[in-house]
Amino acid sequence: MSTRKISRSIPEAGDGRAGRIIYFLLASLLLLTGQLGLCLSAGEHGRRAVKSRGAKGGGSKYLTLEGVAVPVYKFRGEDAQLECRYERGTDPLYSVKWYKDDNEFYRYVFGRSKPKQTFIIPGVTVDVHRSNTRRVLLKSLTFNSTGVYKCEVSADSPHFHTFEKSGSMVVVELPQQGPVIQGMKSHYRVGDTARLNCTSAKSKPAAELAWYINEEKAVPEMLVEYYPWVHRDGLESRRLGLSFTVDKSHFIMGNLVLKCKATVATVTREEDATISEGEQVILEQREKLVYVRSSASTALPVSLGLLLNLAALAVVGGGRPVT
Ligand SMILES: *[C@@H]1O[C@H](CO)[C@@H](O)[C@H](O)[C@H]1NC(C)=O
Ligand SMILES: *[C@@H]1O[C@H](CO)[C@@H](O)[C@H](O)[C@H]1NC(C)=O
Repeated sequence: MSTRKISRSIPEAGDGRAGRIIYFLLASLLLLTGQLGLCLSAGEHGRRAVKSRGAKGGGSKYLTLEGVAVPVYKFRGEDAQLECRYERGTDPLYSVKWYKDDNEFYRYVFGRSKPKQTFIIPGVTVDVHRSNTRRVLLKSLTFNSTGVYKCEVSADSPHFHTFEKSGSMVVVELPQQGPVIQGMKSHYRVGDTARLNCTSAKSKPAAELAWYINEEKAVPEMLVEYYPWVHRDGLESRRLGLSFTVDKSHFIMGNLVLKCKATVATVTREEDATISEGEQVILEQREKLVYVRSSASTALPVSLGLLLNLAALAVVGGGRPVT
């Protein structure tokens, strides 16, 4: 928990309290006249005043911060809503602030005539009109929007409590095509070395590639690793080589199936320091298959005459909604 930065003047605190008392009186009046419908449309302060009145003696007396709701991942160009989930108790609030990677980009100071303020940060465009004390709306995400988003909420006098919670968001883009297999020959003999490459279409993050021989994952000794590379638009590609000696046992009923699977995934990270490993969220998987057929007539340990078929890619998984 961070310590409170006291950097405000007393009149603001007074303003905040006066505003709150007015809201409370307004809410009480509306309750008394039975106009609950009107009360609910009286804005956030009105609602809060009614709630704390009804829950007197029940909930927490002081400000508490439950957490933030930050999307684990978003697609480039989408908007994202970030929520700061706090209970104010009976404490008057001073401010709600949002940071990306410790740089402040949004501030709401209670009791001011212009309570909202935004600060310019790469990748963060706040829709001010759709942002308030409990949420901020970020417009048109770019890859620069990837980062750790933190909400800091501060109570006013007499307690001055300050709490903060954060969550990570990754901006992703799926590939437009499946992976491509290169280096396939039309003819292999037992004892030949087959050398192939699988290259993923550009995406962010880069796809993870895996080779399978007859549905069995290729062992690391057969793989040739390459570094991923970045395209001019910021998207990334990866290549994985496969190199193995063709063996009779590779042909099952005269067929050999080679598959390259490309998986675009992102790892969620718990901000809670006690949990270090994240959960992998698979955004998309695509496969490329090549069929290698032996000619049925070959009896000698020679040319398993090969024909290949390129199968269309198959989309196996889709995006998983994240709240
Ligand atoms: C990301 O930020 C860098 C500098 O901070 C800037 O040069 C680049 O244009 C930004 N990219 C996008 C897509 O906004
Ligand atoms: C695989 O890719 C590497 C690196 O680009 C290249 O040097 C090699 O010739 C490729 N092999 C095949 C079989 O295409």
